[in-house]
Amino acid sequence: MAGGGGTRLWPLSRSGHPKQFLSISAPGQTLLQETLSRLHGLGMGGWTLSPPVVVTNETYRFLVQDQLASLGEKNAAIILEPAARNTAPALTLAALQAVEQGSDPVMIVCPADHGVTDLPAMQHTLRVAVAQAAQGSVVVLGVPAVRPETGYGYIRSESAGGAQGVESPRRVAQFVEKPDSATAATYVASGEFHWNSGIFILKASVWLAALQRFRPDILAATQASWKARVADNGFVRPGHDEFDSVPSESIDYAVMEHCPGSEFDIRMVPLDAGWSDLGAWDAVWESRDHDAHGNAVQGDAVLHKSSNTLVHATSRLVTVVGMENVVVVETPDAVLVMNRTSSQDVKDVVANLNAGK
Ligand code: GDD
Ligand code: MG
Repeated sequence: MAGGGGTRLWPLSRSGHPKQFLSISAPGQTLLQETLSRLHGLGMGGWTLSPPVVVTNETYRFLVQDQLASLGEKNAAIILEPAARNTAPALTLAALQAVEQGSDPVMIVCPADHGVTDLPAMQHTLRVAVAQAAQGSVVVLGVPAVRPETGYGYIRSESAGGAQGVESPRRVAQFVEKPDSATAATYVASGEFHWNSGIFILKASVWLAALQRFRPDILAATQASWKARVADNGFVRPGHDEFDSVPSESIDYAVMEHCPGSEFDIRMVPLDAGWSDLGAWDAVWESRDHDAHGNAVQGDAVLHKSSNTLVHATSRLVTVVGMENVVVVETPDAVLVMNRTSSQDVKDVVANLNAGK
């Protein structure tokens, strides 16, 4: 899934060139390329890995095509959404394509805005998850919730029991998407919750059945758009007018929150692979190497008597003196300076800028 706007990483991430197409965690590969590279070599044992399906907005078609080409991904399918409708319709398009091709594959549903430091651990976890999903479960990958982040989904799972070991898929008892900060704090204090990593593993038919059960309106509208699709120069373009009336909703709100306690078997596999969501600047600070004062710097910058600060400079020298917990992002035409704890609020600033306020 590579169609988001990435507004919380403004001003580096721009609507015409959002974060998934930028190198954020490490120089070299973009987040989309890192996401695809993590899957290389994954198919082993009883199953094979099909070429990836990238679902993105039509605005980004050439960025995706170029970035796939430079990775050598020749057989990827690229589905172009005519409008941004969040992730539930995006996944539905991929699932409809899969079942129409006569297969019912397990889909590894990947956001394209994550960092992972331990690739073998990540791949091992995915194999466990694929085996569970092949039996018809909805599988989520959970990361221990250690801070009251409001930008994540929270998962409470039943203990796996000693004999099954730490990585056995646990039944999910509760899934809460983006709780407010007071609620998130109680979840973290309870020690019972994992963050949702945003990576889902489930069969195409299971996704379509769950959507039919919980949001038939999204399924019907997306199906209408899929039926009206055209193939065009290596792209698949769902029907424009039909897609306009697709409700905008995320996978988490549309389906995941409703699965616990329903007829759908939802399981969590713990993920211990140095996962980080690179969705907002505090997470980028967290994921980068720090000096002795907790500062993380990329580009041309001098910090003096400052601590726990992130500087990302692209074109000019940035100097920071006597600051704590600050983020400074410098680009040629826009500079962001903020308290690191306000990282989730950048999207409001972008919304105001877009509205001309
Ligand atoms: N194709 C397509 N179309 N992709 C989209 C769209 C869309 O309209 N909107 C977002 N995406 C892509 C983004 O580019 C990103 O790679 C991924 O889908 C997830 O979207 P985000 O908007 O980044 O979601 P989030 O970070 O707020 O929340 C999700 O991820 C968290 C962990 O990072 C949820 O699953 C949370 O529960 C989870 O904790
Ligand atoms: Mg995200």
